[in-house]
Amino acid sequence: MAIMAVQDLHVRVGDSLVLRGVDFQLSPGQIHALMGPNGSGKTTLALALAGHPAYEVVRGRATLDGYDLLSLPPHARARAGLFVAFQRPAEVEGVRLREFLRLACAERGKGFCEFQRAFPQALARLRMEEFADRELNVGFSGGEQKRGELLQLYLLQPRVAILDEPDSGVDVDSLKLIAEVIEEMAERGTAVLLITHYPRLLEYLPLAEVFVLLDGRIVERGGPELARAVGKEGFEVIRR
Ligand SMILES: Nc1ncnc2c1ncn2[C@@H]1O[C@H](COP(=O)(O)OP(=O)(O)OP(=O)(O)O)[C@@H](O)[C@H]1O
Ligand SMILES: [Mg+2]
Repeated sequence: MAIMAVQDLHVRVGDSLVLRGVDFQLSPGQIHALMGPNGSGKTTLALALAGHPAYEVVRGRATLDGYDLLSLPPHARARAGLFVAFQRPAEVEGVRLREFLRLACAERGKGFCEFQRAFPQALARLRMEEFADRELNVGFSGGEQKRGELLQLYLLQPRVAILDEPDSGVDVDSLKLIAEVIEEMAERGTAVLLITHYPRLLEYLPLAEVFVLLDGRIVERGGPELARAVGKEGFEVIRR
């Protein structure tokens, strides 16, 4: 049974209709991959579902647990259990990682005592102990920002996680760590949509389904072999 269902989603960005009828479902505890060429609309999909005002949904539906997600403001979507890890996380001056996550956890019903226990554990899991009192993403290297997004995922344990290229710019050791954390999240019941260009990360993970986004639609669905074929031959394999 799916926890998230997206139907016929059309999204306009600026003057162009980037998504033209996207359909997919995400199941709890399963890892789904989304692949597609540069500019095909993967980030558009993630940000439109998160409720970014620059991404206008002009047609279609998205539900979480059967409830209409698109009628909710962004913070209510997050509170309902949707988490989006950004391709390019924003640097937020003046807000420390510890404070940011304490407040985010409180919104998800974790009290102060629970946070005091869980936060150091999450820092250790992501090997980010020295980042606890740094300002959110400020001056983080590319790979550190990606680990920071996964730290948020690990602490918040959302019901649905859309991860926009968590592997880009990440070194080999961190890639393994990120794969482990994603698998752990899925084992705890999170439905994962993993956006990536590289089958490398996918090789470490048990994939339930692979979607290929092209020309504004999901044009191909398959198992891990589809990710391998795209990785080897590019999107020509789909276009043929
Ligand atoms: N704010 C914006 N204004 C105008 N065009 C935009 C805006 N945001 C995205 N676009 C355009 O929408 C298209 C889809 O972009 P998107 O970032 O969703 O692609 P993507 O599949 O995530 O690509 P990549 O693999 O490079 O991350 C692109 O052509 C992009 O230039
Ligand atoms: Mg993108």
